Amino acid sequence: MAETQFTPRVFSGIQPSGNLHLGNYLGAVKHFVDMQNAGEYETVYCMVDLHAITAKLLDPDELRSNTRELCASFIASGIDPEKSILINQSQVPEHAQLAWIFNCIARMGWMQRMTQYKDKAGKNAEAASLGLLAYPALMAADILLYHGTHVPVGDDQKQHLELTRDIAAKFNHDYGVDFFPITEPVIRGAATRVMNLQDGTKKMSKSDPADKTRINMTDDADTIAKKIRKAKTDPDPLPDAFDDLAERPDARNLVNIYAALADIAPQAVLDQHAGSLFGHFKVALADLAVDKLAPIASEMSRLMDDPAEIDRILGRGAERAREITVPILEQTYDIVGMLRS
Ligand code: AMP
Ligand code: TRP
Repeated sequence: MAETQFTPRVFSGIQPSGNLHLGNYLGAVKHFVDMQNAGEYETVYCMVDLHAITAKLLDPDELRSNTRELCASFIASGIDPEKSILINQSQVPEHAQLAWIFNCIARMGWMQRMTQYKDKAGKNAEAASLGLLAYPALMAADILLYHGTHVPVGDDQKQHLELTRDIAAKFNHDYGVDFFPITEPVIRGAATRVMNLQDGTKKMSKSDPADKTRINMTDDADTIAKKIRKAKTDPDPLPDAFDDLAERPDARNLVNIYAALADIAPQAVLDQHAGSLFGHFKVALADLAVDKLAPIASEMSRLMDDPAEIDRILGRGAERAREITVPILEQTYDIVGMLRS
C-alpha cells in the first residue's frame, strides 16, 4: 500500500489539575511555543479536562477555574490563539467519541502495563476508575483525531505515546487501511525531566504536598528567587564537564534548568560557570528564572481577570478544531461500519 502523506501537525495536551509548574513549562509548554513559531507545522494545544477527572473527581468550580488558568498560562507563555488552535477537550465532543472506538482497539493487557496507571491505581487497583485504565486510549484519540504527526511532551509520557502508535497500527492493520499516522514523540532539550528542588532523584510534580519542591508558574519574583536559593545542592564547585555531574542529581538538575531557561546546552552552562560554588551559581540561576518566568506569571494574572475572554477564545478554538475533527471522525465511523445519519 502506498504510504499516505500526512500534513505535519503537532498536538499536545496538559491536564487542568492545578499547580502548573516549571517541569510542565520546560518539558512541554516551551516546546509548544517553539513548534508553533517554527512555521513548519499546524499546531493544536489542548486542556484535557476529561483526563483530569480520571484519578479523582474534582470540585466542579475548581475544575472550571483550573481549565481557564491553564489556558491563561498557555497564552502568557506565548501560544497565540490565532496561530495555534487552542481548545478545551470536552468542548470538542469527537475526542470522547473516537476514544470509544479506541477502547475497542486497545487490549486490556496493554492498558494494565502502563506505569502511570500502575502508579496512580496503587495497591488497590480494584477501586481505580475505569477511566484511569482507559486514559491512554483517550490520549491516543486526542492525537489521532487530528492525524497528529508530532507530539511534544516530557519524558514521562513516552510510554503513552508508544501505545498511541500501537493503537494506530492495530486500527490500520485490522481494517486494512492506512488512515491514522504513526505519531512521532518529540522529547527534546535539557529539561525533559525537571527534578524536585529538594530531592534531585524525584520528578518535580504538581502533587507533591511541599510547595518548596517546585516552582509554580503563578509564583512571583521573590518566591521564585527564594525557592532557588533554598534548593538542595552539594558543597562542591561546578565541574568542567557535564558527565561529572552523573552522581550529583541535585546539582545536575539546577544546571539542566539553567540550560533550558537560557536555551543553551548544559555543557555551555558549565563552560561559563565551572569552578563556581552553588551560592554564586544560584544567584545567576535565580536572576535568569525571574527574568523568564515572572513576566509569564504577571501576564497570566492579567488574563485571569477576564474569564469571559478566555471562554471566547476556547469557544472559537473548538469551532476551528471541529473543521478537522468532524470529517476525521466521520471517516473513522465509515471505516468501522457505523451508519451515517
Ligand atoms: P501533566 O501535568 O501530568 O498533565 O503533564 C503535562 C506535561 O508536562 C507533559 O508533557 C509532561 O510530560 C510534562 N511534565 C510534567 N512534569 C514534568 C517534569 N517534572 N519535567 C518535565 N516535564 C514534565
Ligand atoms: N497524558 C498527558 C499528561 O499527563 C496529557 C495528555 C492528554 C496529552 N492527551 C494528550 C499529551 C495528548 C500529549 C498528547 O501529561
